[in-house]
Amino acid sequence: MAATKLTIQGLSKRYGDFVALAPTDLDVVQGEFLTLLGPSGSGKTTLLSLIAGLAHPDSGSVLINGTDVTYGAPYERDIGMVFQNYALFPHMTVAENIAFPLQMRKVDAGATRKRVAEALEMVHLPHVAGRYPRELSGGQQQRIALARCMVYRPSIILMDEPLGALDKKLRDHMQLEIKRIHRDLGTTIVYVTHDQEEAMTLSDRICLMNAGSIAQLGTPADLYFRPKNVFVADFLGESNLLVATVESREDDRVGIAIGGRHCGHAMAYDGSLRPGGKARIMIRPQNLHVDASDTIADRAESMQARLTDIMVTGGMTKLYLQALEPANGGTEVVAAFPTNRLGEQYQIGQALRLRWSASDTVAIAE
Ligand SMILES: Nc1ncnc2c1ncn2[C@@H]1O[C@H](COP(=O)(O)OP(=O)(O)O)[C@@H](O)[C@H]1O
Ligand SMILES: [Mg+2]
Repeated sequence: MAATKLTIQGLSKRYGDFVALAPTDLDVVQGEFLTLLGPSGSGKTTLLSLIAGLAHPDSGSVLINGTDVTYGAPYERDIGMVFQNYALFPHMTVAENIAFPLQMRKVDAGATRKRVAEALEMVHLPHVAGRYPRELSGGQQQRIALARCMVYRPSIILMDEPLGALDKKLRDHMQLEIKRIHRDLGTTIVYVTHDQEEAMTLSDRICLMNAGSIAQLGTPADLYFRPKNVFVADFLGESNLLVATVESREDDRVGIAIGGRHCGHAMAYDGSLRPGGKARIMIRPQNLHVDASDTIADRAESMQARLTDIMVTGGMTKLYLQALEPANGGTEVVAAFPTNRLGEQYQIGQALRLRWSASDTVAIAE
């Protein structure tokens, strides 16, 4: 197990009466890529600013390598920062921009030249050293901002929505670049985004925030397959969340009823789910299978639904349906499958059977 790089203990921040960050604990391990994910206003930038020393907390502490830096100045923290607006100096060339943090640290001219060249190599842009920021594309400027941050080898890098201003194709490319650089340098990174796909692509662990608190902290797979509450299930990827009652419990499996009808079993990772209690049953669209025939009529994990819409989103086809039985009429569900010619057989208004597997289904306490 790697050493703890960053420790946050009981850290909180309010603006007047408004709690931007409730008391929060978080450990980040040496070399880890940890992402703060959450909707706008959930407290991501607030937490990052407290780590950076750009704001002071109302309670709690920030430890880097075991040293309390809560009230220390930002430059004492050995932290690098990259933001959405690249903040390159417009009157300096690319090479001068990257050299700047080294000059601030009194690195001599020879070593500075060498390290600037290395940093430009790292972001695959050695040929733009003599240009000014305005002569670069948005993606190139963001890579230079990254190089300028990496050049003095901070032991932690904080990034706040660094790809937010880029178009989708460039963003996808830059995600791979950031991942590669992280792998090559082994730097500890705390990254902020509101984009769940970006968080899943990049992170060792995701810290999902909601209204100033941690909703769940874990690997992308933990949050995707084992959400602890409805907020998490809803935020990460699409999901159907059906109202159900718990009938029985055996270890991490529960028997469930939807609309009063026994619907087989679901996985249950939450100890609070007890027979008689209410739950939401999470089924991901790709785990909801459509069957036009009646051969599965006797299957417990199934339901009857009417097709209301079909959407072909390139590689995936989505079927929008209204549950007929056993879920209350009107409950909307989505099923998805890789696009194929069979998709053409479905007709709007048609009644279909949907089936799923207990192992792909998670019961979440209401
Ligand atoms: N300087 C400030 N004064 C008052 N309220 C603020 C200030 N900074 C942030 N907030 C509020 O705190 C909440 C969390 O903000 P922020 O951490 O920026 O969210 P996020 O980065 O997740 O979008 C928001 O509701 C925001 O309006
Ligand atoms: Mg923010």
